[in-house]
Amino acid sequence: MRPLADPDFWRDRAVLLTGHTGFKGAWLTLWLQALGARVSGLADGPAPALSLYELTRAGDGVGEWHADVRDHAAVRAAFAASAPEIVIHMAAQALVRRSYADPRGTYETNVMGTVNVLEAVRCTPSVRAFVNVTSDKCYANAPSRPPRPFVEDDRLGGHDPYSSSKACAELVADAYARSFFGSGDGPRVASARAGNVIGGGDWGEDRLLPTVMAAALADRRVVLRDPAAVRPWQHVLNPLSGYLRLAEALVADADLQGGWNFGPALEDARSVAWIVERVGELWPGQLRIEVDPGPHPHEARTLSLDSTKAHELLGWRPAWDLDDALAAVVAWYAALRAGEDMRAVTLGQIAGFHPAMAA
Ligand SMILES: NC(=O)c1ccc[n+]([C@@H]2O[C@H](COP(=O)([O-])OP(=O)(O)OC[C@H]3O[C@@H](n4cnc5c(N)ncnc54)[C@H](O)[C@@H]3O)[C@@H](O)[C@H]2O)c1
Repeated sequence: MRPLADPDFWRDRAVLLTGHTGFKGAWLTLWLQALGARVSGLADGPAPALSLYELTRAGDGVGEWHADVRDHAAVRAAFAASAPEIVIHMAAQALVRRSYADPRGTYETNVMGTVNVLEAVRCTPSVRAFVNVTSDKCYANAPSRPPRPFVEDDRLGGHDPYSSSKACAELVADAYARSFFGSGDGPRVASARAGNVIGGGDWGEDRLLPTVMAAALADRRVVLRDPAAVRPWQHVLNPLSGYLRLAEALVADADLQGGWNFGPALEDARSVAWIVERVGELWPGQLRIEVDPGPHPHEARTLSLDSTKAHELLGWRPAWDLDDALAAVVAWYAALRAGEDMRAVTLGQIAGFHPAMAA
């Protein structure tokens, strides 16, 4: 088994990415195009000017659909026109803090949006595999729970509206798989759960690395919310490689439907303070750090994933460890500061991650 995507599988394959203009979406769009796939993307509007998608001109050659996932008719039209074989569903309201401010909008996008996308899958006979991108936050993380990494059969839940909406999206995908796609040739459905990802080009509000790198670029002080919080950090290319392996495997084997964890090695679960200190060592300049004592809305403190299932059944491994990831992130922002061509830089990092692509 290959740990990374198989170029022969993806060459000339019709792939539809929802949320293709987002952080993960831009990396995946570039990677799939480099693999020779025919990529279409669906998002609720054009990408912002400073986004990774725009900086890397990721949309060159992509069939783009501006559709809100809450608009069933628009989603269906995009599916009909792009006739994908593989769908990777990433469009979401992806921020915990925003979900406290707008719980209704978060559920509408993340839950009914997933229903609408799955309805479109039902109406599109070309679809062979559907990968539903959720989160490590989809697991119920009660304080009384023993501190061990989550396995795929653990109870779903979620304290805040974002996490709960992702657990709901899992249940929706599972019900569609059982109710409508069960028979042999129907589309195969799986959910992919990954935690905090880091990588160049993330500007997401309230995420650690974007906050730190934006402060570094502007030579501002970095204000940390919760330096003791431990997260299973990994480079964005690690879970994306899991999504690609999962889609390949689903096409080959209907028994692989269900939930999948794509987490980093357990030793790559590190505190916010550790990450910022390491970034400070790598960044070619000064990082000034300050701690904001709060109060802050609840966020699950320690989350880690047991990815044994993906290791054993997909042959998937996180190809970059945390040191590789931080080095790549800092190099990306340093290249941006130096005015380099960010498409070339980003494609260069993808090629470094996945050398078989060039073979
Ligand atoms: N970034 C992380 O650390 C992380 C961690 C775990 C899970 N995830 C999940 O991965 C997926 C991608 O995350 P990301 O970091 O790239 O998010 P992002 O916020 O950068 O991108 C979200 C994408 O979804 C699109 N979108 C948002 N609302 C939409 C709507 N109503 N209709 C159509 N499109 C809409 C946006 O235009 C964008 O293309 C999400 O499902 C997120 O929940 C992300």
